[in-house]
Amino acid sequence: MATLQEKDRRFLWHPYTQMQDYAQRDLLLIDRAEGILLFDQQGKRYFDTISSWWCIVHGHSHPTITEKIRAQLTRLDQVLLAGTSHEGAILLAEQLVRLAPANLSRVFYSDNGSTACEIAIKMSLQYWRQVGQPDRCQLVGIERGYHGDTIGAMSLGGVPEFHGPFARLLFPSHRLPSPYCYRCPVGLEQEACDCQCLQTLAELLAGQGGQIAALIIEPLIQAAGGMIVYPARHLQKLAALTREYGVHLIFDEVATGFGRTGTMFALEQAGVAPDFLCLSKGLTAGMLPMAVTLTSEEVFQAFYADYAAGKTFFHGHTFSGNPLAAAAALGSLQVFNEEQTLAGLPAKISHLQARMRRFADLPWVGDLRQLGMISAMELVKDKETKAPYDFHERVGWPIYLAGLELGLLLRPLGNVIYLWLPLSVTLAEIDEITERAWQVLSNPRNIAGW
Ligand SMILES: Cc1ncc(COP(=O)(O)O)c(C=O)c1O
Repeated sequence: MATLQEKDRRFLWHPYTQMQDYAQRDLLLIDRAEGILLFDQQGKRYFDTISSWWCIVHGHSHPTITEKIRAQLTRLDQVLLAGTSHEGAILLAEQLVRLAPANLSRVFYSDNGSTACEIAIKMSLQYWRQVGQPDRCQLVGIERGYHGDTIGAMSLGGVPEFHGPFARLLFPSHRLPSPYCYRCPVGLEQEACDCQCLQTLAELLAGQGGQIAALIIEPLIQAAGGMIVYPARHLQKLAALTREYGVHLIFDEVATGFGRTGTMFALEQAGVAPDFLCLSKGLTAGMLPMAVTLTSEEVFQAFYADYAAGKTFFHGHTFSGNPLAAAAALGSLQVFNEEQTLAGLPAKISHLQARMRRFADLPWVGDLRQLGMISAMELVKDKETKAPYDFHERVGWPIYLAGLELGLLLRPLGNVIYLWLPLSVTLAEIDEITERAWQVLSNPRNIAGW
């Protein structure tokens, strides 16, 4: 009889994985989860330090959420959202509108982060056509931005390591420099920073502002692009510039939404409101796939017309607003409320910061950055010169393997090693995770070239 490992090798093709890595080596076969722990088939435990791709919020299988899903299962499993509706989708939309900035009053459902962003892009483009400005059809993204792997989302992304092979397929768009303070794109030291890197945007808007439909950005942290944390004032200034030229602002909070940065949404820390807000991942606390794109009444009204006027938004997905996912999301918001999750975060965030501080002294840690429950360090070949590792040198691989040995599921992003912790993590768990991470990262044998 073939083992599960053998069958996996034979039948599966895993995402973001070079399958040859597992020709000889077994991949980690997870059997069950509890809290922030994953257990393999032999019962060995691993801390889920990356919240299972940034989506677990209250720990795995939180009883309130599983109960909500269980109850929903026997009531209504799935129904299309075109021409029909259901209680969960309605009540969830109401709650999301209450949580979001005041100008966002409409919720459009889909089922993953990439589609949430594509929907915002499509809505913006169609909006401009329908309000008589069809020439506003250009789009702006940010270097090192990441919005997903579908064609539109890739077209506005800025991570060539992921999207390079598809370059010829991607539509042209404008790119702004990444607000990558450690490697400032305009060569300034932090003390001299007045967000001069936004000059590129100012010039673009001055020249072509009237042809630009929208700009998409991840507020406060470019996550997949390298956990690049940037100041709130950058977002404020960027928002003010786009407002001046009437350009739509799309905030991609697929990764940052639902408490990860210390506030429900990262945008709250900058006090700015977008025209579109894209959410997914933590929306269901990581239990089921679901996404939403929130927008304003003004955008909604531009589509609201006689059918014959041809203003309908012809976009939808089979599982848009799925009732089970809606039940999970409602369950998660209930937990936020009952457990006062956000109120508990400041103590955890400062504890994490204190525990991570010593990593900055390691000779191979060039930059240590933190935003809320996310802590990241950028490894360098030389601290003085900030000489980077090449993506293909794969400095993260031995670290990943060493982490597994010590019961830590890490998933380095190139030369960036990070913790993206579930909000339910306890102070004692933070101690244990950071101690194990220290054992991995302070050992030169795990660091390429040292
Ligand atoms: C900021 C951001 N946007 C969009 C996406 C795409 O989400 P999905 O993988 O659900 O398509 C991701 C995924 O990591 C993300 O981090």
